[in-house]
Amino acid sequence: MSITQGATSADELQRLANDHLWLHFTKMGGGEPPIIVRGDGCYLEDIQGNRYLDALAGLFSVNLGYGFGEEIGQAALEQMRELPFYTNWTYAHPRAIELAAEVASLAPGDLNRVFFVSGGSEAVESAWKLARQYYAVREGATQTSGVEPGEMVGRQVGGPAPGRKYKAIARNIAYHGTTFGALSINGIEALRTPFEPLVPEVRHVSNTNRYHRPVEETEEEFTAFLLEELEQTILEMDPETVCLVHMEPIQNAGGSFVAPAGYWRGVRELCDKYDILLCADEVITGFGRVGHWFASERYDIRPDIVTSAKGLSSSYGAIGAVIATDRVMEPFLDASSMYTHGITFGGHPVMSAIALKNIEIMKRERIMEHVLANEDAFRSTLAQLLDLPIVGDLRGTGYFYALELVKDKETRETFSDEECETLLREFLSPRLFEKGLICRADDRGDPVVQISPPLVATQSEFDEMTGILGDVLAEAWERLQ
Ligand SMILES: Cc1ncc(COP(=O)(O)O)c(C=O)c1O
Repeated sequence: MSITQGATSADELQRLANDHLWLHFTKMGGGEPPIIVRGDGCYLEDIQGNRYLDALAGLFSVNLGYGFGEEIGQAALEQMRELPFYTNWTYAHPRAIELAAEVASLAPGDLNRVFFVSGGSEAVESAWKLARQYYAVREGATQTSGVEPGEMVGRQVGGPAPGRKYKAIARNIAYHGTTFGALSINGIEALRTPFEPLVPEVRHVSNTNRYHRPVEETEEEFTAFLLEELEQTILEMDPETVCLVHMEPIQNAGGSFVAPAGYWRGVRELCDKYDILLCADEVITGFGRVGHWFASERYDIRPDIVTSAKGLSSSYGAIGAVIATDRVMEPFLDASSMYTHGITFGGHPVMSAIALKNIEIMKRERIMEHVLANEDAFRSTLAQLLDLPIVGDLRGTGYFYALELVKDKETRETFSDEECETLLREFLSPRLFEKGLICRADDRGDPVVQISPPLVATQSEFDEMTGILGDVLAEAWERLQ
């Protein structure tokens, strides 16, 4: 058994966890949580000394794997010595400046301005607020001529000003975080409902899941359907009131939905046509998950705003970023305007130093090249699982895949809620863990197993995860018969 820093005994930790720690998205009456004590490469170890292959990279986020603590820790230590904290409210400091410049250099196109936050939800929250204020400031700027100082511009008592843009559009089943704005953008009804009323006003359009579309539908027809629906939604909401279209380059929840050909070009055109900002939520896809610094580059998405977090520091630190184009920044460069938003820890110097070191290591280790060189081998290894009767579909790209589980491969019939409960939550997740594999059995849409390992994974890890998944999925199928 191994415990870090010789602190507390295993029994004591378990007791303290039971008594004091409140876990996220966890039924707290549901038994004792596993306690993870150390990590290295793609592997984790629990308090009993059991080893696990982490095929989820923490939460789609430990992109470098667990083996760089020494080096990244040294960068954090040096920053702690030099300047443990200062703020980005009014002031700048070297690490935030260097990180902003580095992120801008890696982001595609003229995504040149970086606003730091502490994580993904805050990034999404900030992106929506930015889009709202972008239009207010832009309209305000054009309306100020002839307005007396101190006079309210673009406001009406009892409602938004005419032409004020504040609504957002996102996609069904998509996960975008849990703070109120981000939660409202979420396309997962079960997460939204307990907290209604939410922030006005978000509508959700179809995601790019093609597996359950009519078999005879071509890719072009699917793209046309999605774009028509998006345009119809914009029109129904009134384009004059919509400020943001918020989408992941590859949607995670529901299982790694890659968009059909022509989709991103069409979404960009609709955003331009109706003067709406497009935000690519790259909280998962940013920093290498699909073999590029940003998936927007891989799919030529041309977003106005990018949200990122997780991989920016490989989760060695709590830092996220909102990246905006020159066009979005432009109205805020006026001496009298301001993005009225900020948080204490945004651009924290230690977190910035960690993120800078993470990026330096990613470059040195040639992580992008590694993912691109291995993605085909990864996919074809996982594709062996398609021989199993329970595996209907394998989706994704890069190091970002999902297997959709079905009751009937011919008809693509999915499982009932009750079957999902017994299959995914009661059997699959714990059984995979017992066998030494961490990946996520998820039924926020149709039931899928999500596979998203650290980007340092190689063929031996692909083989190991495929082997364990194969055994456990075969067992699951037998239990259902
Ligand atoms: C696409 C996307 N956006 C936003 C978030 C929220 O990030 P966080 O959990 O860091 O708040 C997540 C988290 O998984 C995500 O996957």
